[in-house]
Amino acid sequence: MASGESCTILVGSLRQDSINRAAASYAAGHLRDHFTVHQPELAQIPLFNQDVEDVGYPAPVGALKRVVSESSLVLFFTPEYNYSTSGVLKNAIDWLSRPFGSGSLVGSVVAIASASPGSRGGENAREHLLQTCSVLTDRLYKVTLGIPNVTELKAGSLSEQHSQLLAHWLEDVIEFSRQPEAQAQKMSS
Ligand SMILES: Cc1cc2nc3c(=O)[nH]c(=O)nc-3n(C[C@H](O)[C@H](O)[C@H](O)COP(=O)(O)O)c2cc1C
Repeated sequence: MASGESCTILVGSLRQDSINRAAASYAAGHLRDHFTVHQPELAQIPLFNQDVEDVGYPAPVGALKRVVSESSLVLFFTPEYNYSTSGVLKNAIDWLSRPFGSGSLVGSVVAIASASPGSRGGENAREHLLQTCSVLTDRLYKVTLGIPNVTELKAGSLSEQHSQLLAHWLEDVIEFSRQPEAQAQKMSS
C-alpha cells in the first residue's frame, strides 16, 4: 500500500519498446507498496531556453517541477547515447535544476539506473548523470545500477534475472531514503 510519500520516475528514452521504460515500469510496480508513484512523460518538455524561463515555465515544465518537488524519491532510468546520458533526460534535468541552488531536486533522494544491451550497463551514462546530479541534491544515492545485456524484452518486460537485480537495488534505495537525514532534508527544503 502506498504511503503519503511520493516517488517520481523519469525515463530518458522516448522509444515505445524502450528497455529503460520496461525497467521503469517494473520499478513503479515495486515501489507502489511504499510510495505514490508518478511517471511523467518527457516527450512534451520543450528544449531548455533561459529566455522562456525568464517569462515563466511552460505548463508541462511547471507540472514536472511540481511533481518532482513533492517527491521524496526521484529515479532516473537513462539509456546510454554516445557514451553519455540521453539529451531528453539531460534537458528535463536542466529545467529541474532551476532556479540555480534551489531547484526541484533539492532534498530529494535521487537514484540512477541504466538498462543496456551492452555488457557495461550504460556505465558512462550513469557516471555522467551522477556527476550532474551531485550538484542538485545532497541526497544522491551514489550506487547506480547497471542492467547489462538486455537484448530483448519478454512481452514488454525484463527477464526474471534482470528484474531481481533491479528489485534488490530498489530495496537498497528504499532503505537509504528511509534514513532520517533524507526525510528531514526534504521537509525543510
Ligand atoms: C544515438 C544512439 C547512441 C548510442 N550510444 C550507445 C553508447 O554509447 N553505448 C552503448 O552501450 N549503447 C549505445 N546505444 C545503444 C543503446 O544503449 C540502445 O539502443 C538502448 O536500447 C537504448 O535504450 P532504450 O531501449 O531504453 O531506448 C546507442 C543508441 C543510440 C540510438
